[in-house]
Amino acid sequence: MKRRQRHMLLEKLETRRMLSSVIPVGEFRPIDEVGNNVANPTWGTAGDDLLRLAPTNYADGVDAPALPDDLSARDISNILNNQSDPSDPSQDLATLDANELTDFGYVFGQFMDHDMDNTPTGDVVDNIAVSPGDPIGPAALPFTRSITDPSTGTSTSNPTQQPNEVTSYLDLSQIYGSDQATADALRTFSGGQLKTSAGNMLPYLTTNYFTAAQLTQLNAYLGGEQNQGPLSMSSLFATGDIRGNENLELTALQTLFLRNHNMIASQLQADHPNWSDEQLYQTAREINIAQYQSIVYNEWIPAVFGASAMPAYTGYNPSTDAAIANEFSTVAFRFGHSLLSEDIARDGNNGQSVADDVPLSEDFFDPNLLNPADVVDPFTGETSTDIDAVLKGDADGISQASDLLAVSDVRDLLFGNAGAGGQDLIALDIQRGRDHGIATYNQLRVAMGLPAVTSFSQITSNVAVQQELEQAYPGGVNTIDAFEGGLAEDHVAGSDVGPLFQAIMINQFERLRDGDRFFYLNESFTPEMQQIFSEGDTLTKVIENNTSITNLQSDIFKFSASISGTVYAATGRGDFGRGSSGMSGITVELEDTDGDVLATTTTDRSGRYSFDQNSGPSDNPDIAPGINVTGTYDIVVEYPAGIRGLTADSTSTSASVSISRSGINVDNMNFDLGTGGVAQGHSCDFNQFFDGTHFNDDAGSMSVQSMLNDPSWWQTQS
Ligand code: HEM
Repeated sequence: MKRRQRHMLLEKLETRRMLSSVIPVGEFRPIDEVGNNVANPTWGTAGDDLLRLAPTNYADGVDAPALPDDLSARDISNILNNQSDPSDPSQDLATLDANELTDFGYVFGQFMDHDMDNTPTGDVVDNIAVSPGDPIGPAALPFTRSITDPSTGTSTSNPTQQPNEVTSYLDLSQIYGSDQATADALRTFSGGQLKTSAGNMLPYLTTNYFTAAQLTQLNAYLGGEQNQGPLSMSSLFATGDIRGNENLELTALQTLFLRNHNMIASQLQADHPNWSDEQLYQTAREINIAQYQSIVYNEWIPAVFGASAMPAYTGYNPSTDAAIANEFSTVAFRFGHSLLSEDIARDGNNGQSVADDVPLSEDFFDPNLLNPADVVDPFTGETSTDIDAVLKGDADGISQASDLLAVSDVRDLLFGNAGAGGQDLIALDIQRGRDHGIATYNQLRVAMGLPAVTSFSQITSNVAVQQELEQAYPGGVNTIDAFEGGLAEDHVAGSDVGPLFQAIMINQFERLRDGDRFFYLNESFTPEMQQIFSEGDTLTKVIENNTSITNLQSDIFKFSASISGTVYAATGRGDFGRGSSGMSGITVELEDTDGDVLATTTTDRSGRYSFDQNSGPSDNPDIAPGINVTGTYDIVVEYPAGIRGLTADSTSTSASVSISRSGINVDNMNFDLGTGGVAQGHSCDFNQFFDGTHFNDDAGSMSVQSMLNDPSWWQTQS
């Protein structure tokens, strides 16, 4: 480092120290976060009201749901969010995230969400009307309004507010709990460990792992673990958040960070045999949270919102309230519902499938699917795996696009396992915004310092979407639900979302960082703690430390891979392969192993072709184009008429290539086509037979020169 740079860095660190009261070694974050902010001890605690970025928009100014004259939330969802293929409605259109986000973009997003916010529902019913002919009907979709702060909703100057029932801070409350009773129930009170079940999995909600009193205490203030699936409670896992069993990918991350805690605690205990259980638990928790915060701020946020979206950290600011904003949890952070993929891949280290994909609609509240013993789940018929295969699968492909469209697994079949009927998650999101009296799209834009739009074309450059918005909102741009308007916006350059969602989310993540006295960069670590921290400060490292997976890209939130090569001409007697010239204008296809064409290209002037994650289109809109997942691809060269190839069928030639992870770039997948001379009229599988100097067949190997001198060879091979 140059001296000047170092000086500047030191200055920065010193400034930070002066601004902040750095947490000394041995002071730990309270489980309920009471007192994280010393002067305002309830800020960001469980039960604290969600704060507002914009004035409320209740229809009566106090409590009645907003936008009462708009179309029903389901009708709007049908117009704007329907991802099914119009020519085959049983299939969803395949879309790909424009920033090459892997499925971890949404899987980790949901995991974070369950750390930051939860506003449960109460008992006031406000069902969502369903129009005649809608296949999800004819009954209205059940909807219950959120619980409210009873001291609000009394007048227009005190409109209804909703509480956040979990701690706002990024403190892994989804692992440890947001209250002391839950945190205690999840601990073994020995060696600093959290409870596990066989195979290093989460503990089940049974008396094998908990006393009857503990089972009652687990998230009791929230009514206990949620279950909207086919299994009894005793088959579900216990987690720090009530939604831990909601889907397979989420539960895999819940398990991962539990294992990470226990691994760190064991490491600390090996170095400090005299440490108490409490010291081991708290220190392991502190490092686990630090690694998680590092992943959020150094990996997930830059991947989703762009590398320079967040202003630099300048230290703890006690006047910053880290509480979650209603517009964040009820609107902007639900953008992840658009990214969901319809199938959950389960891959081995080599990037190939180790078990069938699980349809998203079949994985809700079904932890049977996570079991290292490879058992068949009676509900889905799928074989279970350890978390390894699910996490590798999440790293191995690009998620759906961040746009208005949502897959039918959540737009029609949410929590509808095994023919149990379905819900529409997008309709719930729209209705929830109205329930919470969220400002309209334009009002919220103005509150965030953005100009109000005056036409649909100012929201998106996509003309079809402009027309659909007009159909969904005949009352004009001032009647748009904030959730739908935000999803429709053209994206900020480098980000997965438009200006409104970007502003809300950066505002939130800045407050969660600057207003957290225990933010990891504001804590003191011993050299040993620092060392353990650095060994797990990326999601890739955490997975590799706690599973059998070793073959992961370093930036697990992005997927890119390529296959390239040259199509050579054979220009004369014996002049093949390396000595030949490349052929331009040859058609080359990228295919999956079912023969679906995922992209088509033509060779350039040098005979070069190349495919990557941006190649396309595919020949079927329901199949994602390009190299968007790991697995095996076929490269197929099509000859123009008049050119004869040295291949088995003399009309095409192909080669198989396997991609085991993101970051793999396979070059020199070369092909040699015969254009004249000795090659004319002859056919053999050139790629298989020719290695550059020798032809190889079952009978042995023959050099080019001896082959040319031996006409009998031609006869046997032709
Ligand atoms: C399979 C995946 C997912 C399912 C099944 C799911 C389902 C749900 C459901 C049912 C709700 C409550 C809806 C309501 O009645 O208002 C909800 C809320 C929410 N979801 Fe998701 N979700 C998924 C993934 C995600 C992802 C990937 C994100 C973000 C990246 C996300 C963010 C949120 C947020 C912020 C809330 C509000 C939570 C609160 O504060 O109460 N979800 N989700």
